[in-house]
Amino acid sequence: MHNFMECCTQIVRETGHALLQAMQQGETRLIGAKSSAIDLLTEADEMAQHQITQRLREAFPDHGILAEEGDQEAEPRDYVWVIDPIDGTTNYWHRHPAFCVSVALCHHGEPMVGAIYAPRMDELFCASRGGGAFCNDIPIHVSRASHLDQAIVATGFPYQRAPGSDNNLVEFGRVMPLVQGIRRCGSAALDLAYVAAGRLDGYWEFHIKPWDIMAGILLVREAGGQVSQVRPEGAMAGAGGILATNGHLHPALHRRIMGKAVEHAP
Ligand code: IPD
Ligand code: CA
Ligand code: CA
Repeated sequence: MHNFMECCTQIVRETGHALLQAMQQGETRLIGAKSSAIDLLTEADEMAQHQITQRLREAFPDHGILAEEGDQEAEPRDYVWVIDPIDGTTNYWHRHPAFCVSVALCHHGEPMVGAIYAPRMDELFCASRGGGAFCNDIPIHVSRASHLDQAIVATGFPYQRAPGSDNNLVEFGRVMPLVQGIRRCGSAALDLAYVAAGRLDGYWEFHIKPWDIMAGILLVREAGGQVSQVRPEGAMAGAGGILATNGHLHPALHRRIMGKAVEHAP
């Protein structure tokens, strides 16, 4: 476990530094778009993924890899590394600081080690199963907020967001009037890391992918929080959606997202 963790944290940190350097030197170019015109792919995404996968294949030749850029098929192995080379590519392209590198090691589909590094903030979040969660080596814990009107929560919107589609606007409208604040930072991995660190009290999103959330799920759980699907149907990384909270707020935020009444609602 120690070796996995050391390798994982070293890789996200080194890749994050390379990304920052490329950004600061204006070396990044847009390659094109992926699932829709606003789903950007930059040279930096490919450079970062190449750097990460090369290191992992050298260190753990028996392990599988599931990474965002490329064929997106998990290699069928007991141990699989799940990689988002840049989570928050739109931010990265616009030089907005909320982007990160997210890497998790899963054993039979369950995350056992995870690391998220945000180079502009120089913050390294990491967790191992049963070993707690940390930010820059300091233990982190979820918040204590127990009512929605004390809570700051985050969400995200899918790249397919045409009016009338499952674009999260209905759910956003349900939650927004009841919470202290609602944020959309543009990086699901950082949203989860911030729930783990108690900077956010909750986060939900639909149509997310495994590489967006795998390291973050472990962070939230190891920091004492709760993670579940929003809807019973569909996968968590899909139409089912992910809900992560400090635990206290889980039932109320879940009810609100689903359009059900919540006690103490104004
Ligand atoms: C995106 C970010 C964003 C979320 C999108 C993701 P990408 O990842 O995590 O916050 O709302 O659903 O696809 O494309 O920047 O790796
Ligand atoms: Ca992502
Ligand atoms: Ca990405």
